[in-house]
Formats: sequence, structure tokens, C-alpha cells
Amino acid sequence: MLPHPSLTAHYASTEAKPEFVNQLFNKGAAHYDGIVDWGFLRSGAAYRRWTQKRHGLRPGHHLLDVACGTGLVAVEAAKILGTAENITCLDPSEGMLAVAKTKLPAKFVLGRAEKMPFPDNSFDFLTMGYALRHVTSLEDTFREYRRVLKPGGKLLILEVTKPSGRVREFFFRVYFGRIYPFLTQLFTRSRDARDMMRYYWETMDACVPPTTVVAALNSAGLAEVKRIPLMGLFSEYVAVKP
Ligand SMILES: C[S@@+](CC[C@H](N)C(=O)[O-])C[C@H]1O[C@@H](n2cnc3c(N)ncnc32)[C@H](O)[C@@H]1O
Repeated sequence: MLPHPSLTAHYASTEAKPEFVNQLFNKGAAHYDGIVDWGFLRSGAAYRRWTQKRHGLRPGHHLLDVACGTGLVAVEAAKILGTAENITCLDPSEGMLAVAKTKLPAKFVLGRAEKMPFPDNSFDFLTMGYALRHVTSLEDTFREYRRVLKPGGKLLILEVTKPSGRVREFFFRVYFGRIYPFLTQLFTRSRDARDMMRYYWETMDACVPPTTVVAALNSAGLAEVKRIPLMGLFSEYVAVKP
């Protein structure tokens, strides 16, 4: 299953989605950190660290950060682990990886969540921050997560989810659909950055509901699957490899 239907205004078919998404992040990479910093009211680093700690990341763990982007999740993980040497960062965008490499001495791998170049049972903890909408199959992705986690290993997926309720959805739509892309272009003077944030909104708007993500995690054979909503805006999906 796709995390959202094909967005044919941007790419012709699901087969063309990875290349489109890759170009989008390659072109927007230089602006990404600045945009998400003010766009989420400077809460991003503290939240990424707090949530990994709350869900049990601890020193000694081998961590895989899938869709690491510019390294925002991994940098916070390194503070908890006390080192970056047990962190592996995976992303298909060379532009995003190039920024991440300047921030921490982790292991960086070019690749995609749906088919990862790691042996079975490799990691104690797996994170994916704000990228689930970009995969081409939830089933393939979650099967891979189950495969590379060690038995008892934990999965943590962070997402922004469109709120239910007309008033909250209205404000969410206005902020992410209009204000955020507009301010992005104003501050960065980059159409590439604006397009990245417009697409960000379109994928949130079209995304399958949390119940579908939870069902896909369960059918991949993961256990203790839960979605923890936060402030009606964030979703934390957690699961354990049996
Ligand atoms: C919005 S950024 C998130 C970056 C970072 N995790 C964070 O918390 O800010 C989305 C990232 O997902 C990556 N991505 C896109 N398609 C992917 C896929 N199929 N597998 C893994 N990562 C993917 C993009 O290259 C991009 O770096």
C-alpha cells in the first residue's frame, strides 16, 4: 500500500515518485534545517531528543536512522548515546546526506527504506523522522524494518498528521498549505525550498489515516504496535520486533 495516492500533478506514476522526491530534497537540502527550525517554533531538536529518550533509546544501542535527511534525528540520538559511532544513517538524497555528514561522525549509507543494504538482526533501535509519506510501499518498508531489527529491537516513526475536526483542520491547512510555503520563499528566496514545503503539505493532506499505518505495522509481523498522538498534530508510531 502507498502512504498516499500518486500525486500526478508532480509525477506521472508511482514508479516516477522516487526520482521526483529525490530531486526535491537534493535541491532543498541547503535550506531544510533553517525552514524546519522556525516552522516548528524551534521545538524540533528538543522534541526529537525527548521522544527518542522516552521510547527507550539508551547508551550502547546500535541505531539505524532511516530517512536521516540532514541528520536532525541522528544528532539528537548521539547526545543520548554519548557517541555517534553506533549510529547508521540511511537516505536516498545525496544532497541531504552531504549536509548530515558535516554534523556527526556516524556511518552514512545511500539507500531507501523499502530495500535496505543491511543484514538481518542488525539494530537495537530504528528511527524514521517525517519521511513515511515518501516511501512507495508501507508493507515493503515495515517488512524491512522488522528484518533489520534485532529480536526485541524497537521502532519509532515520527510523523505530522492532519488533525481531525473542522476548525483544527482549517488552521492546519492554512498554516502548512499557505503560510509555511509562502514564508519559506520569503526567507530563503528559493523556489526549490518553497516547492519542497508545498509538497510536504500535499503529502500530509493526502496521507492514509493513522489506523492504516498501525494495521500495516501489525501485518508486517511487528508487536506492541501503538500510535501515540501528541497535541493533535504529531504521531509517534512505536513497535517491537518479536
Ligand atoms: C522531511 S525529510 C526528514 C529528515 C529528517 N529525518 C528529519 O527528521 O528532519 C525526508 C527525508 O526522507 C528521505 N526519503 C525520501 N524517500 C525515501 C525513502 N524511500 N527511503 C528513505 N528515505 C527517503 C528524503 O531524502 C529526505 O531526506
